Amino acid sequence: MPGPAGQASSGDFDKVLVVDFGAQYAQLIARRVREAHVFSEIVSRSITAEEIRQLAPVGIILSGGPASVYADDAYDIDPGILALGIPTLGICYGHQVIAHTLGGNVAQNDVAEYGRAEMTVVAPSIILRGLPDEQVVWMSHSDAVTEPPAGFAVTAATPDSPVAAMEDPSRGIYGVQFHPEVGHTDRGQEMLKHFLYEACGARPLWTHASIIEQSIDAVRATVDGGSVICGLSGGVDSSVAAALVHKAIGDQLVCVFVDHGLLRKDEAVQVEQTFRSSFHMNLIHVNAEDRFLTALAGVADPEEKRKIIGETFIRVFEEVATEVTDVRFLVQGTLYPDVIESGTADAAKIKSHHNVGGLPEDMELSLIEPLRDLFKDEVRAVGEELGIPEEIVWRQPFPGPGLAVRIIGEVTKERLDILRAADAIVLEEVIRAGLYNELWQSFAVLPAIRSVGVQGDGRTYAYPIVIRAVTSEDAMTADWARLPYEVLERISSRVINEVEGINRVAYDISSKPPSTIEWE
Ligand code: XMP
Repeated sequence: MPGPAGQASSGDFDKVLVVDFGAQYAQLIARRVREAHVFSEIVSRSITAEEIRQLAPVGIILSGGPASVYADDAYDIDPGILALGIPTLGICYGHQVIAHTLGGNVAQNDVAEYGRAEMTVVAPSIILRGLPDEQVVWMSHSDAVTEPPAGFAVTAATPDSPVAAMEDPSRGIYGVQFHPEVGHTDRGQEMLKHFLYEACGARPLWTHASIIEQSIDAVRATVDGGSVICGLSGGVDSSVAAALVHKAIGDQLVCVFVDHGLLRKDEAVQVEQTFRSSFHMNLIHVNAEDRFLTALAGVADPEEKRKIIGETFIRVFEEVATEVTDVRFLVQGTLYPDVIESGTADAAKIKSHHNVGGLPEDMELSLIEPLRDLFKDEVRAVGEELGIPEEIVWRQPFPGPGLAVRIIGEVTKERLDILRAADAIVLEEVIRAGLYNELWQSFAVLPAIRSVGVQGDGRTYAYPIVIRAVTSEDAMTADWARLPYEVLERISSRVINEVEGINRVAYDISSKPPSTIEWE
């Protein structure tokens, strides 16, 4: 049955719940399960056996966590969970919780076992079936299970973990002290697959094609009539969300692309071409450059700029939205990590939204969030499957306020044109060097200073361009990218030769923290 909010409904897929004991690994486990084409969802450790029964998963994975089962504030689970008869795999802390809850022994160790460990398989095992007797696994724990609960067989050991793996297939309960979800555990994904396919009997139906199909059914079931509005920015999330919804309801979807004039070179043309020409979408392209530049005239303060851009954006979107007849739904590109992070995983998936993004109070809209169950890599794969061009699907993040936060000081048309031209060269050269996908972001910044140079026979007094290129996992921290000198050299000579008004190029070698990725 399709879900209520246009997301690919988990109800149609065999589902594995990942109980989150606060580990950074819970998301990784959920992703690995999905890579094995089984839908997974992260749930709170406070979930009860009855709540799990109602969610009807085919399997449960208890994640790792930082705590000791003996700590005063140790995380427990409802012991009823282990009596549900649903196949369960404990990983690291989850393994210890199983042992502790069912009467095994967990020893408190002062010394941690951390990193690679040589593991020996000591008994036949469902999880380790067909894998080598000796293999490398990745450990990260101090406490260790020293005796399994009654009924469990020890199936593998390492020098520091006498019970590196245990199982009781009659109850469908399995535990591993190591982390099968990390790449350093050589055969980890195979172990997870054994749990999913053999222990749980999960069917590998969570494929990109079926996500799309289910999502389309869900949107159709939700939208009976009226119009659906979607703010399209050209970024991957809004693009994939729009393409999915469009596939479901065609012309009932109205996309609004507010071009604030602060976009990168050719970006507006690309959005037009992709969504109007290729996808034949109902696209309202608002060219609001003059309005934004007028509002920004004379403003140099970064926060003030952001505020003006945000407010102007909302006003423009609002004006356009009120002209579309009978709008009842708003598409948002919310992703699964946003859902987990905002702690609303259990919240209803359809909400009545007043005034979203400044929409008028009397427009009471319901949200359609077709990507709400998806991780970013799944969104990209779905986007590719839908035929969205690679340049959009693999696009580096770009801030909402656009180039305005990369121009220090006043934003003028002249300075925007300079930055746009330099930025395009940075992009071209990074792509040419095959580095685009390795970098979190790579772009140009235009500071508000000028310096002296000499070009031809004449003295110049012009702006510098700063190249910014960073690697990052999530933008919370970032490191400056060690771009090869040859790439920097090519960018420098091209920018200085091709962009009028630039006579110097510098490379930003600051990490975040203490700097930020953007300059404003
Ligand atoms: P900072 O500069 O804070 O940026 O290190 C972290 C990440 O966020 C992006 N960014 C924004 N994205 N609206 C956005 O949608 C914004 O106002 C905004 N400001 C920064 C930035 O590009 C980087 O990826």
